[in-house]
Amino acid sequence: MGDRVPVITIDGPSGSGKGTVAAEVARRLGWRVLDSGALYRLVAYAARGAGVALDDAEALARIASGLQVEFRNGRVLLNGKDVTRQIRTESAGNDASRAAAIPEVRQALLQWQRSQARPPGLVADGRDMGTVVFPDAPVKIFLDASAQERARRRYNQLKEQGIDVSLRDLVAEIEARDRRDRNRSVAPLKPAPDALVIDSTDLSVEEVVAKVLEQARRAFPQLAQGE
Ligand code: C5P
Repeated sequence: MGDRVPVITIDGPSGSGKGTVAAEVARRLGWRVLDSGALYRLVAYAARGAGVALDDAEALARIASGLQVEFRNGRVLLNGKDVTRQIRTESAGNDASRAAAIPEVRQALLQWQRSQARPPGLVADGRDMGTVVFPDAPVKIFLDASAQERARRRYNQLKEQGIDVSLRDLVAEIEARDRRDRNRSVAPLKPAPDALVIDSTDLSVEEVVAKVLEQARRAFPQLAQGE
């Protein structure tokens, strides 16, 4: 696991803002970012394309081990094809959460995720970054927000993209996905014992980013020196 490469983990439920915060923290520090949720979305998307059922553990694990993925300028490429839009839909998120409940799939993605810890540093976002993938990370954040607020953020995002959805449906979908992520037996969504829990319900992105950077400066003195 990339000896001494500094790692910040940001876990939390869907819509808590972890992706946005992780990207901004990584940008400020000049570090790499790992969007682990995209991997589960890609596995489920590839499975659908290949006609594989989302509960076929063996076939899904095979897909996960052979995943040819590239993150480039905010785009996600699967076998060289840009699938960013396709994997960002609500149904792709639900499919991902089903595939993610399968231990063999998680195991197949583990090494690749760890291999992303390369200099100068990594900001990893997901559900089990601090608990399973990078248990030794010196900075662990668990970002939460009320289901209502998370649904509202998602609603605004979709509206901006011209996609019409009902807020009530979104709250129900977000709650259902959270339940599955929190209650699964393997790598359930929960804060690592040493994580700082931040409730972002009433915080701006900038305020959350500032809190994460403050933790980072404390844990990695080399960062503070550079300022
Ligand atoms: O973060 P995102 O919404 O893209 O994740 C999609 C789904 O992938 C989540 O609902 C969760 O089930 C799964 N996931 C996971 N572990 C991660 C990241 C995502 O199980 N580290």
